[in-house]
Amino acid sequence: MRVLFASSEVFPLIKTGGLADVSGALPAALAEAGADLRVLLPGYPEAMDKAGAKREVGALGDPLNIGASATLVAGKLPDSNVPVWLIDCPALYDRAGGPYQDSQGRDWPDNALRFGLLSRVAAQLCTDGSPNKWRPHVLHCNDWQTGLAPAYLHAWEVQNRPGTAFTIHNIAYQGQFPAEMVGRLGLPPEMYAMDGLEYYDSLSFLKAGLFYSDKLTTVSPRYAKEIQTAAFGCGIEGLLAKRSDDLVGILNGADYGVWNPTADTHLAFPFKPGDLAAKAKNKAALQAELGLTPNSDAPLMVIVSRLNDHKGMDLVLAVLPAILAMGAQVALVGTGDRPLEDGFRAAAAAHPSQVAARIGYSEELAHRMMGAGDMLLMPSRFEPCGLTQFYAFRYGVVPVAHATGGLADTLVDTGYDTLMTGTANGFVFEHCNAGAFRWAVERAVGLYAKKDQWKKIVKSCVAQDFSWGRSAKRYLDLYKSISNGNGKGRR
Ligand code: ADP
Ligand code: GLC
Repeated sequence: MRVLFASSEVFPLIKTGGLADVSGALPAALAEAGADLRVLLPGYPEAMDKAGAKREVGALGDPLNIGASATLVAGKLPDSNVPVWLIDCPALYDRAGGPYQDSQGRDWPDNALRFGLLSRVAAQLCTDGSPNKWRPHVLHCNDWQTGLAPAYLHAWEVQNRPGTAFTIHNIAYQGQFPAEMVGRLGLPPEMYAMDGLEYYDSLSFLKAGLFYSDKLTTVSPRYAKEIQTAAFGCGIEGLLAKRSDDLVGILNGADYGVWNPTADTHLAFPFKPGDLAAKAKNKAALQAELGLTPNSDAPLMVIVSRLNDHKGMDLVLAVLPAILAMGAQVALVGTGDRPLEDGFRAAAAAHPSQVAARIGYSEELAHRMMGAGDMLLMPSRFEPCGLTQFYAFRYGVVPVAHATGGLADTLVDTGYDTLMTGTANGFVFEHCNAGAFRWAVERAVGLYAKKDQWKKIVKSCVAQDFSWGRSAKRYLDLYKSISNGNGKGRR
């Protein structure tokens, strides 16, 4: 099975969030299961470096007429040796800042072209216009940045095109651009219609992917249901409900090669999962590093997150006074919306012995938070899957989370029955408001004081297994269902 896996971020080459983790680990798991895979991403200089991308695969020309040509270069994912193809186009990708935004947090003004090129090259590699003779049986696109690829295949009326699968990692990000970009990106004007690329008078990359792909997936079964409703569907619920037979939720996995406390070089004291004495040493080390009171009895609540309303970070600030009154500590590493960043900074300044906020992105600190934490706070308003709860489990950190999306699919609330049966692995609240969140936190702190019961919960967390193998198999089955002409040309 030959698979072209297109994504705008891939760990460890370039990462802003969970999409990168998935785009690094899933291809590796698919390759292990026998797939012949190429990962395609933009040639950000940092990614080219880390992938050791020097070998030229072929010239791509200037397909979007930007006045600069692009080249396809080959490298590897550092740990798994999965082949990676990067689109080397300095005019679009060689700049200081992030993959989507400049250093001030403003979207790059030419994102339509930057990800239009990614989509277009993905499509080109499925046709005789490819600079290489390798042709995929399946093109697997991820999130809006790759959404135009199936649209190009449709527009070009490619004979014997591969099957196409599109994965929604987060429906809230849609890639909307002015209608005039349709022509600029070389798509026929007649495809700019309600049954096509148009979404509320603009071009939507996401809708293109959802409309023109053979199969749709998202990253948890619960989210697959949620996005067919107005509350979660961000205006696309109608299309998804219509296509519900083609939509499936496949739960993400965790890369236990990267998130392995036994061999975690970022930790002061690497430890065997479940070793509470070693965890206590990491907790003391992190308290010292962050200037928190060295107190082994104070529950240490950690947060590793983008800071925005989606993640419910305003709820953490709302409940913070109660958390402090419970004698707990909060340690956060995160970046995002300015008011939330300021809110956490101010809380840390006001209560330095109980609150530490590191505003920014730090992979190392994220690992140390998991190594040291007692609880992970995840009051997300919605959460397609969420990966940090998987990492938390492995490191013996108990999630306190809203029952939504992948959190609802992976967490079992602590109650009398689930404690008795040893299945409780978190503290879950159903209604996403400060009162409900606070009650879940109170329950967690209450149980934390009962050491025997807490140990039981940690034991159940550590026993969770979300290895990628199972999910990779489900993707392979999905690929098989579209790679033999099944479903091809259905639209
Ligand atoms: P999302 O993709 O919505 O941000 P996920 O839980 O799927 O949420 O994935 C988030 C990923 O990004 C995890 O690997 C998490 O550790 C990482 N992460 C988020 N914020 C930070 C940060 N400030 N520093 C380091 N890692 C972070
Ligand atoms: C998105 C979602 C997150 C998911 C990740 C990887 O960023 O917000 O819930 O885990 O993609 O699929």
